[in-house]
Amino acid sequence: MSLCQRILTRHGLRASPAVMKTTSTSISSTQFRQMHSSKSVATTTTQALLAEFERRSNTIPKPPESRENPMIGIAPAARENVGQKRFADFNLNGRVFVVTGGARGLGLSLAEALAETGGNVYCFDRQPEAGPQWGEASRRAEEYGGSLHYRQQDVQDSEGIDRNIAEIADKHQRLDGIIAAAGVQHLAPAMEWTREEANRMMDINYTGLMMTATSAARQMFKYKCHGSMCFIASMSGSVANKGLLSPVYNSSKAAVVQLARNLAMEWSPIRKDGTGGIRVNCISPGHILTPMVLKNFEEVPGLREKWESENMMGRLAETSEFKGAALFLLSNASSFMTGNNLVIDGGHTAW
Ligand SMILES: NC(=O)c1ccc[n+]([C@@H]2O[C@H](COP(=O)([O-])OP(=O)(O)OC[C@H]3O[C@@H](n4cnc5c(N)ncnc54)[C@H](O)[C@@H]3O)[C@@H](O)[C@H]2O)c1
Repeated sequence: MSLCQRILTRHGLRASPAVMKTTSTSISSTQFRQMHSSKSVATTTTQALLAEFERRSNTIPKPPESRENPMIGIAPAARENVGQKRFADFNLNGRVFVVTGGARGLGLSLAEALAETGGNVYCFDRQPEAGPQWGEASRRAEEYGGSLHYRQQDVQDSEGIDRNIAEIADKHQRLDGIIAAAGVQHLAPAMEWTREEANRMMDINYTGLMMTATSAARQMFKYKCHGSMCFIASMSGSVANKGLLSPVYNSSKAAVVQLARNLAMEWSPIRKDGTGGIRVNCISPGHILTPMVLKNFEEVPGLREKWESENMMGRLAETSEFKGAALFLLSNASSFMTGNNLVIDGGHTAW
């Protein structure tokens, strides 16, 4: 092996045929030492190395350059949005969204927010049917010009997610965004978790969410829809909840917050061909009164009172208290926000 090849290998590089030709013919390490004084050989070797570095770095995929095509089209045009219509930035008329975990609880409330402002919202959930609040939510959505649709779909089934999202986008010839709220919680001391249990929770809360986001991004790129994604993380992704043994849940939510930053970097810039322009953010709620949390209260006596005393409001949240934030993130109202995390927790993590 020539010296140059050895150096390339040490740096994890494989020489291109051109470099091999320049270097392998002549330079063994003995020869290199003999020729040490020869400037020209050293220069040739360095140049070959630099060329190889450049060739390699050009083949590694990189995020798009945001200055190349600034997101000017997404900025609100004062003439259209100010004074013409009340809060035009929040109008979702004709837009199409997917909400996971939308059978009940927080997911359904957030889906309602989008449908009540004119959006056509497809709720995915692993439950065969939506919960008892669905009928009323669907009626209200239609009254305000939007629509709610239900599909049984598990986020662990990536192919199903991909197929369903593609079908919806093809039908409407667009997809404007998602809210990823499907999630599970389980309380147990760290040492009691098996690999299978931990993997399952991460597969739903993190991987299932990521696969939903990538399926949606594929369609948004296909139809050149600039839009927005909102991932439901949790304040539990930023702190250890005092007195609550939920190591895997908390880690899965921290992973979701980080994923939003990375996907925002990758998808927010608009490419020259018009694709991209997808903002990605999280909402991190504090404790909300949902079926998931009511189950925690059954498991841990006194927990409700404890949680109520741990935030600055002295109570737990209703799901409806997150509708405004979801609408903000999914609409043009948040057109300059991406890669971030709205913590809405009644001050729980602020003291
Ligand atoms: N309730 C809270 O206090 C709280 C606080 C912070 C964050 N969150 C998050 O909010 C989201 C909604 O939680 P919630 O409190 O409304 O709980 P919930 O149990 O009432 O609702 C979660 C929904 O997700 C669905 N789901 C679970 N696994 C799924 C899967 N594999 N595929 C498809 N759907 C699946 C469930 O069927 C359910 O309808 C979750 O991501 C949760 O982690 C909740």
